Amino acid sequence: MSYTKRFDSRKFDEPREMEAKVGIVKRADGSAMFRMGKTIAIAAVYGPRQLYPSFLQNPETGILRCNYDMLSFSVTDRKRPGPSRRSVEISLVTTNSLLPAIDLSGFPNTVVDVFIQIIQADAGTRCCGICAASMALADAGIPMKDLVCAISVGKVGDKVVLDLNKEEEDHQEGATDIPVAMMPRSNEVTLLQLDGEVNKEDLIQALRYAKKGVDQIYKLQKDALKKKYGGIKNE
Ligand code: CDP
Repeated sequence: MSYTKRFDSRKFDEPREMEAKVGIVKRADGSAMFRMGKTIAIAAVYGPRQLYPSFLQNPETGILRCNYDMLSFSVTDRKRPGPSRRSVEISLVTTNSLLPAIDLSGFPNTVVDVFIQIIQADAGTRCCGICAASMALADAGIPMKDLVCAISVGKVGDKVVLDLNKEEEDHQEGATDIPVAMMPRSNEVTLLQLDGEVNKEDLIQALRYAKKGVDQIYKLQKDALKKKYGGIKNE
């Protein structure tokens, strides 16, 4: 059976409605909110600050530490509070996807903590969290060579689609989920995961869609930063 029309009537290469804001957690050094449809992430950045215990310090550079978590009531079946294997994995891939964009060499022996909370989940939470986190890092004044934009692509039934929602991920014919993060100016991919199966042609098509989504996210992120800081450099 083919997937001819998306459940929410989007085009196959159309992302969900998105929203971005910076500076929403006043006590944090930097913060942001990113929403993709019904998935909402908040990121708060603290640091650079001295890292303890001191044996973890690196005299050459500051380190980045991301912590991803989902609120218990963010999903339909209550999520048990506290860390899980899933949240540890997502925290790690989030850190790795953001690291290539930032330069902490000017802050030896320090840590930059990024706390990501998913307050509502409808698939694509790691991507939404990465989008919020990269804006929060910029808001905190961390030196960055680019923002990081992330979006999920994949297959639902026989169709390549951009930005799967939960209903699509749960499609009876099976779905393939490919979270992608990129630095849009250089097109460097900083995260590429694959949950499911895909052939080469469909993967190439999916990555084209991902780039399309990334460009839209980048514009939203820059607009949100400009709203707070006025005329930041565009390119
Ligand atoms: O959220 P993301 O797509 O990055 O990661 P996932 O592990 O593939 O999870 C997909 C979706 O499953 C999440 O976005 C949630 O909507 C849902 N989920 C859930 O309902 N309960 C959990 N404990 C974990 C995920």
